[in-house]
Amino acid sequence: MALSELPPALDDGEDAGSELPLMRAASPGAMSRAWVARLAGVDAPWSDARRERRAQATGLDMSPIVLTSAKGANVVDIDGNRYVDLVAAFGACLVGHAHPRLLRTLEMQSSRLMYGLGDVYPSDAKIGLTERLARLFPEPSARVLLGLSGADAIDAAIKTALLATGKPGVLAFEGAYHGLATGPLATCGLRPEFREPFAPHLSPHVGFAPYPAEASALERSLAAVDAALAKGDVGAVIVEPVLGRGGVVVPPDGFLTGLREICTRRSALLVADEIWTGLGRCGALLRTLDQGVVPDIVCLGKGLGGGLPLSACIGRASVMEAWRTPKCLQNKDEASAYDGPAGEAIHTSTHAGNPLACSMAIALLDTVVGTKLADRAKESGASLVASLKDRFSGGASGVRAVRGVGLMVGIEVEGGAARGLALARECLHRGYLVLTGGAGDVITLTPPLNVSKVLLDAFVDTFAELASTRSV
Ligand SMILES: Cc1ncc(COP(=O)(O)O)c(C=O)c1O
Repeated sequence: MALSELPPALDDGEDAGSELPLMRAASPGAMSRAWVARLAGVDAPWSDARRERRAQATGLDMSPIVLTSAKGANVVDIDGNRYVDLVAAFGACLVGHAHPRLLRTLEMQSSRLMYGLGDVYPSDAKIGLTERLARLFPEPSARVLLGLSGADAIDAAIKTALLATGKPGVLAFEGAYHGLATGPLATCGLRPEFREPFAPHLSPHVGFAPYPAEASALERSLAAVDAALAKGDVGAVIVEPVLGRGGVVVPPDGFLTGLREICTRRSALLVADEIWTGLGRCGALLRTLDQGVVPDIVCLGKGLGGGLPLSACIGRASVMEAWRTPKCLQNKDEASAYDGPAGEAIHTSTHAGNPLACSMAIALLDTVVGTKLADRAKESGASLVASLKDRFSGGASGVRAVRGVGLMVGIEVEGGAARGLALARECLHRGYLVLTGGAGDVITLTPPLNVSKVLLDAFVDTFAELASTRSV
């Protein structure tokens, strides 16, 4: 099938995008299976391997559906089935698919300027966005480095910390995920499977502390951080304000403020990875600020580009100044001939600051702020968590815990990864897209921030029914 033969985009009517699932064929249907077979012949085979492993673990067919169109919170597969997207493109689709304002921006910007020469001849869109992002930081004169992916932003933060402190050490957390490019990968504490194949290429200067899931674990976690920083060689502590991929783990009050205090006392930078938690997802533009903590560096990504790849590393002025005069050079070997970057573009890439993505980001920020989507996420997330807790109180139907902040919600189930995956699969068959996180036993929900209550309520009913059946 050629792309021109694909089903048309979803209707753009008033209510489009907030409809309940409509399953016209089996999911996955014959068309999805045929297209996935084509992909299997050309895609790097790790995704096949993962599918096979998951099929073995659950005894279920794990073949994916193939998506063709989307509107609001609905996506449609190539067999014509309509789903409710409770994943929102890994949390990146903040304002729903095909948002009219973003579509208009895409059209307008693509007809005026699609390419820029980022660090040589910047576009007006890049300048406008950079000013906007600097203002998100709660102190004057913050500086911004743009990238394409979340991993890019983390990479920029790790480099900034080395330049600014001269200390190579990075402290990260068990269970954390910061992206899979070589720099960030070293800081991923989620599962050793991510790091181990590439271990010889990863920074040996990264350590891990436990991430506290409850108040009783707070002291031990902060003590581990303090001990790691006491040696004096750690320049950055990198933290997700809520563990996302690690299973929606909300740390107890006092964790982020405790980290801030230790970092200040031990002269390390606090890097907040707000790639998933930020831009309204957790009920505020920045979760750290909402918790009363000002980090030294904030990383944003996922939804920032309104659907186009874009990320940002935003740092306080005194820290970012190190890109002009790196502190690490003060410790350099006397014999070294190298005396600084000398104005060389030591951190750039062809598409960084791409005008199309920058324009989309401005429209995205306008939409999130202008329509108060952070507040809306706070309210609808709280109501979703409350109704899930209501259904599953006392561990009913093998649900161990429900937790979340804003529209980042996790349902931890008994039965390990096999049951988590089986439930996620059943959700798919019933027309709801969800992910699994943590050890595979946490159903993770990160819908668009403007998702309707009707859809969330319908999901709760469906999930309660599925969780209560013996087969899943
Ligand atoms: C908290 C966090 N940081 C970083 C990343 C990496 O972002 P990307 O996949 O765009 O490189 C992710 C991706 O899921 C993430 O959840």
